Amino acid sequence: MRVLDASFVQGFMRMADDGWQQGWHERNGGNLSYRIRPEEIEQVKEELVPGVWTPIGTTVPALAGEYFLVTGSGKYFRNVMTRPEDSICIIELDEKGENYRICWGLTGGGRPTSELPSHLMNHEVKVLATGGKHRVIYHAHPANTIALTFVLPLTDEAFTRELWEMATECPVVFPSGIGVVPWMVPGGREIAVATSELMKQYDVAIWAHHGMFCSGEDFDLTFGLMHTVEKSAEILVKVLSMTSVKRQTILPDDFRRLAVDFKVTLPEKFLYEK
Ligand code: 13P
Ligand code: ZN
Repeated sequence: MRVLDASFVQGFMRMADDGWQQGWHERNGGNLSYRIRPEEIEQVKEELVPGVWTPIGTTVPALAGEYFLVTGSGKYFRNVMTRPEDSICIIELDEKGENYRICWGLTGGGRPTSELPSHLMNHEVKVLATGGKHRVIYHAHPANTIALTFVLPLTDEAFTRELWEMATECPVVFPSGIGVVPWMVPGGREIAVATSELMKQYDVAIWAHHGMFCSGEDFDLTFGLMHTVEKSAEILVKVLSMTSVKRQTILPDDFRRLAVDFKVTLPEKFLYEK
């Protein structure tokens, strides 16, 4: 089968285009990665041409030998639908999880996203934490979430609680909460370590003054998670634009009742009295 005809590639392209249409990917902003199943890579094997081994910039031994579909560095989400073979690539990791090689894509040259260390360290944490269920890591630059990083305290507690309060579905969609990474230089191992540490507890990490990372089982769930958090952030931006004092809101005991009916566990650290 041709790579571009495979359903995981079609799903990846659709998700990238959805993110572009949401306005979350100005220029080359954002990046996406998918951990390919063995049977999926088998389907497209004859089109793979391995390139040279290149250091990842970190070590991910739990992902040794795995294949990933990832966006290219400097490539535009806007072009993924029309020029997929130049915008995205399939990479293979070596037996130590130290190097990658491009096996398909990036036909005009280039390399995988500069956030590859963060993507792969997040994948590694999620493989270990979910028994391999999570396959998608998504980074975007959604404006409302970024705006809040100039206004709210940069704590997991503040972001989780304020965003839970903005829509009743939020604690059900991201019950474990949201982690916050303070401003750091992007693109390297340091921010990857900080983010993946948060991903041990959460499926969402916000990078102050930069954007958001989400992890999920498939394209629908991961896109839906980013969409839900950003929608909630949009409501909070609107509320804060009208008033600094909410007249009414969802209270800690309301969240506790919701948790029982929807069968989710909401950590008490987010249900503090204000
Ligand atoms: P890349 O073009 O290297 O993926 O970088 C975009 C980005 O959002 C960096 O954080
Ligand atoms: Zn970014």
